[in-house]
Amino acid sequence: MYKFISCTLLVAFHVSITEGNSPKYTYYDPYTLVELQCDQCPPGSFVKHDCTTEKKTECAPCPSNYFASEWNSHKDCQYCSNVCKELQFAKKECSSTNNRICECIGGFFLDIEFCSPHKECPPGYGVVQLGTPDSDAICSECPKGMFSNVTSSTAQCQKQTNCKKLGRKVLHKGSSTHDTVCKEEPAISCEIDVTLCEESLFRFPAPPENWIMTLIQRFSSTAVTLQQINKIQETHSVAEQPFYLFKLYKSQSKADDSFTPLLKDLKECEKGVSNLLGPLNLTTKNIMTLMRGLPGKHVRQEDIERTLKTCDRPKHLVKLLSLWRNKNKGNTIEGLKQLKMGQLPKVLRKRMKKLGQFLSGDSMYSLYQKIILEINGNQTQPVKMEVLL
Ligand SMILES: *[C@@H]1O[C@H](CO)[C@@H](O)[C@H](O)[C@H]1NC(C)=O
Ligand SMILES: *[C@@H]1O[C@H](CO)[C@@H](O)[C@H](O)[C@H]1NC(C)=O
Ligand SMILES: *[C@@H]1O[C@H](CO)[C@@H](O)[C@H](O)[C@H]1NC(C)=O
Repeated sequence: MYKFISCTLLVAFHVSITEGNSPKYTYYDPYTLVELQCDQCPPGSFVKHDCTTEKKTECAPCPSNYFASEWNSHKDCQYCSNVCKELQFAKKECSSTNNRICECIGGFFLDIEFCSPHKECPPGYGVVQLGTPDSDAICSECPKGMFSNVTSSTAQCQKQTNCKKLGRKVLHKGSSTHDTVCKEEPAISCEIDVTLCEESLFRFPAPPENWIMTLIQRFSSTAVTLQQINKIQETHSVAEQPFYLFKLYKSQSKADDSFTPLLKDLKECEKGVSNLLGPLNLTTKNIMTLMRGLPGKHVRQEDIERTLKTCDRPKHLVKLLSLWRNKNKGNTIEGLKQLKMGQLPKVLRKRMKKLGQFLSGDSMYSLYQKIILEINGNQTQPVKMEVLL
Protein backbone atom coordinates (compact mmCIF):
# COMPACT_ATOMS: atom_id res chain seq x y z
CA MET A 1 0.00 0.00 0.00
CA TYR A 2 2.73 2.39 0.94
CA LYS A 3 4.66 1.51 -2.20
CA PHE A 4 1.64 2.23 -4.40
CA ILE A 5 1.18 5.71 -2.94
CA SER A 6 4.79 6.63 -3.43
CA CYS A 7 4.63 5.55 -7.07
CA THR A 8 1.48 7.59 -7.69
CA LEU A 9 3.10 10.63 -6.13
CA LEU A 10 6.06 10.32 -8.49
CA VAL A 11 3.84 10.24 -11.55
CA ALA A 12 1.74 13.09 -10.24
CA PHE A 13 4.90 15.16 -9.77
CA HIS A 14 6.17 14.40 -13.28
CA VAL A 15 2.89 15.44 -14.82
CA SER A 16 2.50 18.56 -12.73
CA ILE A 17 5.47 20.32 -14.36
CA THR A 18 3.89 20.04 -17.81
CA GLU A 19 0.27 20.28 -16.83
CA GLY A 20 -1.79 22.92 -18.54
CA ASN A 21 0.55 23.69 -21.44
CA SER A 22 1.42 20.27 -22.86
CA PRO A 23 -0.08 19.37 -26.26
CA LYS A 24 -2.54 16.48 -26.26
CA TYR A 25 -3.05 13.38 -28.35
CA THR A 26 -6.18 11.30 -28.80
CA TYR A 27 -6.15 7.81 -27.36
CA TYR A 28 -8.86 5.11 -27.27
CA ASP A 29 -8.60 3.16 -24.08
CA PRO A 30 -8.87 -0.46 -25.38
CA TYR A 31 -10.55 -1.59 -22.15
CA THR A 32 -13.09 1.16 -21.59
CA LEU A 33 -13.33 2.20 -25.31
CA VAL A 34 -13.34 5.79 -24.10
CA GLU A 35 -11.67 8.50 -26.24
CA LEU A 36 -9.11 10.20 -24.06
CA GLN A 37 -7.02 13.39 -24.55
CA CYS A 38 -3.61 12.34 -23.23
CA ASP A 39 -0.70 14.71 -22.57
CA GLN A 40 2.15 14.39 -25.08
CA CYS A 41 5.69 13.87 -23.79
CA PRO A 42 8.24 16.72 -23.95
CA PRO A 43 11.37 16.70 -26.18
CA GLY A 44 13.97 14.24 -24.88
CA SER A 45 11.34 11.71 -23.77
CA PHE A 46 8.75 9.25 -25.13
CA VAL A 47 5.41 7.84 -24.00
CA LYS A 48 5.99 4.89 -21.69
CA HIS A 49 2.30 4.46 -20.79
CA ASP A 50 -0.68 6.15 -22.38
CA CYS A 51 -2.98 7.92 -20.03
CA THR A 52 -6.09 6.26 -18.61
CA THR A 53 -9.19 7.72 -17.07
CA GLU A 54 -7.33 7.45 -13.78
CA LYS A 55 -3.77 8.28 -14.66
CA LYS A 56 -1.91 10.86 -16.70
CA THR A 57 0.52 9.92 -19.49
CA GLU A 58 3.73 8.41 -18.21
CA CYS A 59 6.87 9.66 -20.03
CA ALA A 60 10.42 8.23 -19.92
CA PRO A 61 13.69 9.81 -21.06
CA CYS A 62 15.24 8.73 -24.37
CA PRO A 63 18.00 6.12 -23.91
CA SER A 64 21.50 7.10 -24.98
CA ASN A 65 22.03 7.47 -28.77
CA TYR A 66 18.29 8.12 -29.18
CA PHE A 67 16.54 11.48 -29.42
CA ALA A 68 13.14 13.16 -29.59
CA SER A 69 13.27 16.76 -30.73
CA GLU A 70 9.53 17.56 -30.40
CA TRP A 71 6.63 17.08 -28.05
CA ASN A 72 5.40 13.63 -29.05
CA SER A 73 3.16 10.62 -28.45
CA HIS A 74 5.68 8.08 -29.77
CA LYS A 75 6.38 4.86 -27.99
CA ASP A 76 10.12 5.22 -28.57
CA CYS A 77 12.80 7.80 -29.48
CA GLN A 78 14.57 8.04 -32.86
CA TYR A 79 18.02 6.61 -33.32
CA CYS A 80 20.75 9.24 -33.88
CA SER A 81 22.43 9.05 -37.31
CA ASN A 82 25.75 7.33 -37.53
CA VAL A 83 29.07 9.21 -37.57
CA CYS A 84 29.47 11.99 -40.14
CA LYS A 85 30.61 11.34 -43.71
CA GLU A 86 33.97 12.11 -45.23
CA LEU A 87 34.83 15.88 -45.27
CA GLN A 88 32.17 16.47 -42.66
CA PHE A 89 32.35 17.25 -38.99
CA ALA A 90 29.72 16.97 -36.25
CA LYS A 91 28.44 20.50 -35.83
CA LYS A 92 26.20 19.24 -33.01
CA GLU A 93 26.58 15.88 -31.30
CA CYS A 94 23.67 13.53 -30.61
CA SER A 95 21.68 14.42 -27.45
CA SER A 96 18.31 13.33 -26.10
CA THR A 97 16.70 16.32 -27.88
CA ASN A 98 18.58 16.46 -31.19
CA ASN A 99 20.02 14.26 -33.85
CA ARG A 100 23.72 14.51 -34.69
CA ILE A 101 24.12 17.38 -37.21
CA CYS A 102 26.89 16.95 -39.77
CA GLU A 103 28.27 19.77 -41.87
CA CYS A 104 30.86 19.98 -44.67
CA ILE A 105 34.21 21.32 -43.52
CA GLY A 106 35.31 24.85 -44.54
CA GLY A 107 35.59 25.43 -48.28
CA PHE A 108 33.14 22.58 -49.10
CA PHE A 109 29.40 22.39 -49.56
CA LEU A 110 26.90 19.52 -49.60
CA ASP A 111 26.33 18.71 -53.25
CA ILE A 112 23.40 16.22 -53.14
CA GLU A 113 25.21 13.53 -51.12
CA PHE A 114 28.86 14.48 -50.93
CA CYS A 115 30.89 17.46 -49.85
CA SER A 116 32.37 19.21 -52.91
CA PRO A 117 34.83 22.11 -52.85
CA HIS A 118 33.42 25.59 -53.51
CA LYS A 119 33.83 26.75 -57.08
CA GLU A 120 36.96 28.85 -57.79
CA CYS A 121 36.45 31.99 -59.84
CA PRO A 122 39.16 32.38 -62.50
CA PRO A 123 41.02 35.64 -63.18
CA GLY A 124 38.59 38.19 -64.59
CA TYR A 125 35.84 36.85 -62.33
CA GLY A 126 35.11 37.56 -58.69
CA VAL A 127 32.99 35.94 -56.01
CA VAL A 128 29.66 37.74 -55.67
CA GLN A 129 28.27 35.29 -53.12
CA LEU A 130 30.48 33.29 -50.82
CA GLY A 131 29.90 29.55 -50.60
CA THR A 132 28.34 28.12 -47.43
CA PRO A 133 28.32 24.53 -46.10
CA ASP A 134 25.09 24.08 -48.07
CA SER A 135 25.62 26.18 -51.18
CA ASP A 136 28.30 26.78 -53.78
CA ALA A 137 30.13 30.07 -54.36
CA ILE A 138 28.79 32.28 -57.18
CA CYS A 139 31.20 33.93 -59.63
CA SER A 140 30.55 36.91 -61.83
CA GLU A 141 32.64 38.65 -64.46
CA CYS A 142 34.43 41.73 -63.12
CA PRO A 143 32.60 44.88 -64.24
CA LYS A 144 34.40 47.77 -65.94
CA GLY A 145 37.01 49.38 -63.70
CA MET A 146 37.40 46.26 -61.57
CA PHE A 147 39.77 43.32 -61.82
CA SER A 148 40.69 39.97 -60.32
CA ASN A 149 44.10 38.48 -61.02
CA VAL A 150 43.66 35.34 -58.92
CA THR A 151 41.86 32.01 -59.06
CA SER A 152 39.95 31.94 -55.81
CA SER A 153 36.72 30.77 -54.21
CA THR A 154 36.65 33.80 -51.90
CA ALA A 155 38.26 36.79 -53.68
CA GLN A 156 35.99 39.53 -55.00
CA CYS A 157 36.83 41.78 -57.93
CA GLN A 158 38.86 44.77 -56.79
CA LYS A 159 38.86 48.35 -57.98
CA GLN A 160 41.62 49.10 -60.46
CA THR A 161 44.17 51.61 -59.21
CA ASN A 162 43.22 55.16 -60.16
CA CYS A 163 46.53 56.71 -61.21
CA LYS A 164 44.97 60.10 -61.80
CA LYS A 165 43.75 60.26 -58.23
CA LEU A 166 47.29 59.52 -57.09
CA GLY A 167 48.57 62.29 -59.33
CA ARG A 168 50.44 59.82 -61.50
CA LYS A 169 50.37 58.78 -65.15
CA VAL A 170 49.19 55.39 -66.43
CA LEU A 171 51.99 53.04 -67.45
CA HIS A 172 49.83 49.97 -68.29
CA LYS A 173 46.07 50.21 -68.63
CA GLY A 174 44.20 47.73 -66.45
CA SER A 175 41.84 44.96 -67.63
CA SER A 176 39.44 42.58 -65.91
CA THR A 177 42.44 40.35 -65.11
CA HIS A 178 45.10 42.95 -64.34
CA ASP A 179 45.35 46.05 -62.23
CA THR A 180 46.30 49.37 -63.78
CA VAL A 181 49.99 50.11 -63.32
CA CYS A 182 50.95 53.73 -62.71
CA LYS A 183 54.24 55.29 -63.70
CA GLU A 184 56.74 55.29 -60.89
CA GLU A 185 57.39 58.69 -59.46
CA PRO A 186 60.99 59.69 -59.18
CA ALA A 187 62.22 58.96 -55.68
CA ILE A 188 62.10 61.90 -53.31
CA SER A 189 65.55 63.24 -52.70
CA CYS A 190 66.02 64.88 -49.34
CA GLU A 191 68.62 67.17 -50.86
CA ILE A 192 67.44 70.73 -51.23
CA ASP A 193 68.37 72.65 -54.36
CA VAL A 194 67.87 75.98 -52.67
CA THR A 195 68.44 76.17 -48.95
CA LEU A 196 66.50 78.68 -46.89
CA CYS A 197 69.71 80.59 -46.15
CA GLU A 198 70.76 80.77 -49.77
CA GLU A 199 67.31 81.87 -50.77
CA SER A 200 67.19 84.53 -48.06
CA LEU A 201 70.56 86.03 -48.97
CA PHE A 202 69.28 86.94 -52.37
CA ARG A 203 66.09 88.51 -51.15
CA PHE A 204 67.96 91.55 -49.92
CA PRO A 205 68.04 94.68 -52.07
CA ALA A 206 69.66 93.94 -55.39
CA PRO A 207 73.43 93.50 -55.19
CA PRO A 208 75.68 96.08 -56.84
CA GLU A 209 75.24 96.27 -60.58
CA ASN A 210 78.61 94.86 -61.38
CA TRP A 211 77.99 91.88 -59.18
CA ILE A 212 77.07 89.42 -61.90
CA MET A 213 80.17 90.41 -63.83
CA THR A 214 82.30 89.95 -60.74
CA LEU A 215 80.81 86.55 -60.16
CA ILE A 216 81.46 85.59 -63.75
CA GLN A 217 85.05 86.74 -63.47
CA ARG A 218 85.51 84.59 -60.40
CA PHE A 219 84.22 81.64 -62.40
CA SER A 220 87.31 81.77 -64.57
CA SER A 221 89.21 80.03 -61.78
CA THR A 222 86.67 77.19 -61.73
CA ALA A 223 85.37 74.58 -64.15
CA VAL A 224 82.22 76.58 -64.91
CA THR A 225 81.70 77.07 -68.61
CA LEU A 226 80.25 80.03 -70.42
CA GLN A 227 77.47 77.72 -71.56
CA GLN A 228 76.38 77.09 -67.99
CA ILE A 229 76.34 80.81 -67.31
CA ASN A 230 74.33 81.48 -70.45
CA LYS A 231 71.83 78.82 -69.52
CA ILE A 232 71.20 80.47 -66.16
CA GLN A 233 70.75 83.83 -67.85
CA GLU A 234 68.27 82.30 -70.28
CA THR A 235 66.18 80.34 -67.81
CA HIS A 236 66.01 82.64 -64.80
CA SER A 237 64.70 86.13 -64.26
CA VAL A 238 67.23 88.91 -63.77
CA ALA A 239 66.38 89.04 -60.09
CA GLU A 240 67.08 85.31 -59.68
CA GLN A 241 70.23 85.17 -61.77
CA PRO A 242 72.73 86.23 -59.09
CA PHE A 243 71.32 83.56 -56.88
CA TYR A 244 71.70 80.74 -59.40
CA LEU A 245 75.10 81.99 -60.49
CA PHE A 246 76.11 81.97 -56.89
CA LYS A 247 74.88 78.40 -56.49
CA LEU A 248 76.80 77.34 -59.56
CA TYR A 249 79.84 79.12 -58.26
CA LYS A 250 79.46 77.42 -54.92
CA SER A 251 79.12 73.99 -56.46
CA GLN A 252 82.30 74.47 -58.51
CA SER A 253 84.36 76.07 -55.78
CA LYS A 254 84.53 73.32 -53.25
CA ALA A 255 88.28 73.09 -53.60
CA ASP A 256 88.77 76.86 -53.67
CA ASP A 257 90.28 77.78 -50.29
CA SER A 258 89.50 81.44 -50.59
CA PHE A 259 85.81 80.51 -50.75
CA THR A 260 85.74 78.17 -47.77
CA PRO A 261 85.06 80.79 -45.07
CA LEU A 262 81.96 81.83 -46.97
CA LEU A 263 80.63 78.30 -47.17
CA LYS A 264 81.34 77.95 -43.49
CA ASP A 265 79.21 80.99 -42.80
CA LEU A 266 76.40 79.54 -44.86
CA LYS A 267 76.70 76.27 -42.94
CA GLU A 268 76.37 78.25 -39.72
CA CYS A 269 73.21 79.79 -41.06
CA GLU A 270 71.78 76.37 -42.01
CA LYS A 271 72.62 75.19 -38.54
CA GLY A 272 70.60 78.09 -37.16
CA VAL A 273 67.62 76.95 -39.25
CA SER A 274 68.09 73.37 -38.08
CA ASN A 275 68.15 74.48 -34.47
CA LEU A 276 64.91 76.33 -34.98
CA LEU A 277 63.14 73.40 -36.60
CA GLY A 278 65.07 70.50 -35.11
CA PRO A 279 63.82 69.84 -31.61
CA LEU A 280 60.16 70.17 -32.59
CA ASN A 281 58.15 67.04 -32.01
CA LEU A 282 55.45 67.41 -34.64
CA THR A 283 52.71 65.00 -35.60
CA THR A 284 51.93 64.32 -39.25
CA LYS A 285 48.71 66.25 -38.69
CA ASN A 286 50.63 69.30 -37.44
CA ILE A 287 52.79 69.19 -40.54
CA MET A 288 49.79 68.80 -42.86
CA THR A 289 48.17 71.82 -41.20
CA LEU A 290 51.35 73.82 -41.60
CA MET A 291 51.61 72.98 -45.29
CA ARG A 292 47.91 73.75 -45.89
CA GLY A 293 48.42 77.10 -44.16
CA LEU A 294 50.97 78.31 -46.70
CA PRO A 295 49.56 80.53 -49.46
CA GLY A 296 49.39 79.60 -53.14
CA LYS A 297 49.39 76.07 -54.53
CA HIS A 298 49.48 73.27 -52.00
CA VAL A 299 52.10 70.56 -52.01
CA ARG A 300 50.32 67.27 -52.80
CA GLN A 301 49.51 65.12 -49.81
CA GLU A 302 51.37 62.10 -51.27
CA ASP A 303 54.48 64.22 -51.67
CA ILE A 304 54.21 65.34 -48.06
CA GLU A 305 53.76 61.76 -46.92
CA ARG A 306 56.63 60.52 -49.06
CA THR A 307 58.89 63.26 -47.72
CA LEU A 308 57.99 62.47 -44.13
CA LYS A 309 58.79 58.82 -44.79
CA THR A 310 62.05 59.45 -46.62
CA CYS A 311 63.68 62.42 -44.96
CA ASP A 312 64.98 62.60 -41.41
CA ARG A 313 63.91 65.42 -39.19
CA PRO A 314 64.46 68.32 -39.24
CA LYS A 315 65.37 67.99 -42.90
CA HIS A 316 61.82 66.96 -43.71
CA LEU A 317 60.42 70.39 -42.79
CA VAL A 318 63.05 72.23 -44.77
CA LYS A 319 62.42 69.90 -47.69
CA LEU A 320 58.67 70.50 -47.50
CA LEU A 321 59.19 74.27 -47.51
CA SER A 322 61.47 73.82 -50.49
CA LEU A 323 58.78 71.75 -52.31
CA TRP A 324 56.31 74.55 -51.62
CA ARG A 325 58.78 77.11 -52.91
CA ASN A 326 59.40 75.20 -56.15
CA LYS A 327 55.70 74.67 -56.70
CA ASN A 328 54.92 78.34 -56.24
CA LYS A 329 58.11 79.78 -57.72
CA GLY A 330 57.78 81.41 -54.39
CA ASN A 331 59.54 83.34 -51.77
CA THR A 332 59.66 81.33 -48.58
CA ILE A 333 60.04 84.32 -46.31
CA GLU A 334 56.97 85.91 -47.87
CA GLY A 335 55.16 82.56 -47.60
CA LEU A 336 55.98 82.33 -43.92
CA LYS A 337 54.65 85.86 -43.41
CA GLN A 338 51.31 84.82 -44.94
CA LEU A 339 51.18 81.46 -43.18
CA LYS A 340 47.80 80.84 -41.53
CA MET A 341 48.81 79.95 -38.01
CA GLY A 342 45.43 79.60 -36.29
CA GLN A 343 45.37 75.80 -36.24
CA LEU A 344 49.03 75.27 -35.39
CA PRO A 345 50.32 74.31 -31.97
CA LYS A 346 51.76 77.27 -30.06
CA VAL A 347 55.34 76.05 -30.16
CA LEU A 348 55.21 75.68 -33.94
CA ARG A 349 53.68 79.14 -34.39
CA LYS A 350 56.49 80.61 -32.35
CA ARG A 351 59.17 78.82 -34.31
CA MET A 352 57.72 79.75 -37.69
CA LYS A 353 57.62 83.39 -36.65
CA LYS A 354 61.21 83.14 -35.44
CA LEU A 355 62.27 81.47 -38.67
CA GLY A 356 60.83 84.33 -40.70
CA GLN A 357 62.59 86.87 -38.48
CA PHE A 358 65.87 84.97 -38.65
CA LEU A 359 65.83 84.70 -42.42
CA SER A 360 65.22 88.42 -42.91
CA GLY A 361 67.06 89.69 -39.84
CA ASP A 362 70.26 91.61 -39.16
CA SER A 363 72.65 88.69 -39.06
CA MET A 364 71.41 87.51 -42.44
CA TYR A 365 71.98 90.99 -43.85
CA SER A 366 75.52 91.01 -42.46
CA LEU A 367 76.13 87.68 -44.13
CA TYR A 368 74.82 89.04 -47.38
CA GLN A 369 77.13 92.05 -47.26
CA LYS A 370 80.03 89.83 -46.37
CA ILE A 371 79.42 87.56 -49.35
CA ILE A 372 79.36 90.50 -51.69
CA LEU A 373 82.59 91.80 -50.21
CA GLU A 374 84.24 88.42 -50.36
CA ILE A 375 83.32 87.84 -53.93
CA ASN A 376 84.66 91.28 -54.65
CA GLY A 377 87.93 90.18 -53.10
CA ASN A 378 87.82 92.02 -49.79
CA GLN A 379 88.80 90.23 -46.56
CA THR A 380 86.06 90.24 -43.94
CA GLN A 381 85.40 89.21 -40.38
CA PRO A 382 83.22 86.16 -39.64
CA VAL A 383 79.52 86.88 -39.14
CA LYS A 384 77.80 85.50 -36.10
CA MET A 385 74.59 83.64 -37.00
CA GLU A 386 72.86 83.20 -33.70
CA VAL A 387 69.38 81.98 -33.15
CA LEU A 388 67.87 82.53 -29.74
CA LEU A 389 65.25 79.92 -28.99
C1 LIG B 1 47.50 40.84 -58.33
O1 LIG B 1 47.43 42.24 -58.36
C2 LIG B 1 47.95 42.86 -57.19
C3 LIG B 1 47.70 44.36 -57.29
O2 LIG B 1 48.20 44.89 -58.48
C4 LIG B 1 49.44 42.52 -57.06
O3 LIG B 1 49.96 43.11 -55.90
C5 LIG B 1 49.60 41.01 -57.02
O4 LIG B 1 50.97 40.70 -57.01
C6 LIG B 1 48.93 40.36 -58.21
N1 LIG B 1 48.96 38.91 -58.03
C7 LIG B 1 49.18 38.09 -59.03
C8 LIG B 1 49.14 36.64 -58.69
O5 LIG B 1 49.41 38.48 -60.17
C1 LIG C 1 57.18 62.98 -29.48
O1 LIG C 1 55.79 62.76 -29.29
C2 LIG C 1 55.44 61.40 -29.21
C3 LIG C 1 53.93 61.30 -29.14
O2 LIG C 1 53.33 62.53 -28.89
C4 LIG C 1 56.11 60.77 -28.00
O3 LIG C 1 55.79 59.40 -27.92
C5 LIG C 1 57.62 60.95 -28.12
O4 LIG C 1 58.25 60.45 -26.97
C6 LIG C 1 57.97 62.42 -28.31
N1 LIG C 1 59.41 62.54 -28.56
C7 LIG C 1 60.14 63.53 -28.05
C8 LIG C 1 61.58 63.52 -28.42
O5 LIG C 1 59.66 64.40 -27.35
C1 LIG D 1 87.58 96.56 -50.13
O1 LIG D 1 86.81 97.38 -49.28
C2 LIG D 1 87.13 98.73 -49.26
C3 LIG D 1 86.28 99.47 -48.23
O2 LIG D 1 85.46 98.65 -47.54
C4 LIG D 1 86.99 99.32 -50.64
O3 LIG D 1 87.42 100.67 -50.65
C5 LIG D 1 87.82 98.54 -51.65
O4 LIG D 1 87.61 99.01 -52.94
C6 LIG D 1 87.46 97.06 -51.58
N1 LIG D 1 88.33 96.27 -52.43
C7 LIG D 1 87.90 95.62 -53.50
C8 LIG D 1 88.94 94.83 -54.25
O5 LIG D 1 86.74 95.62 -53.86
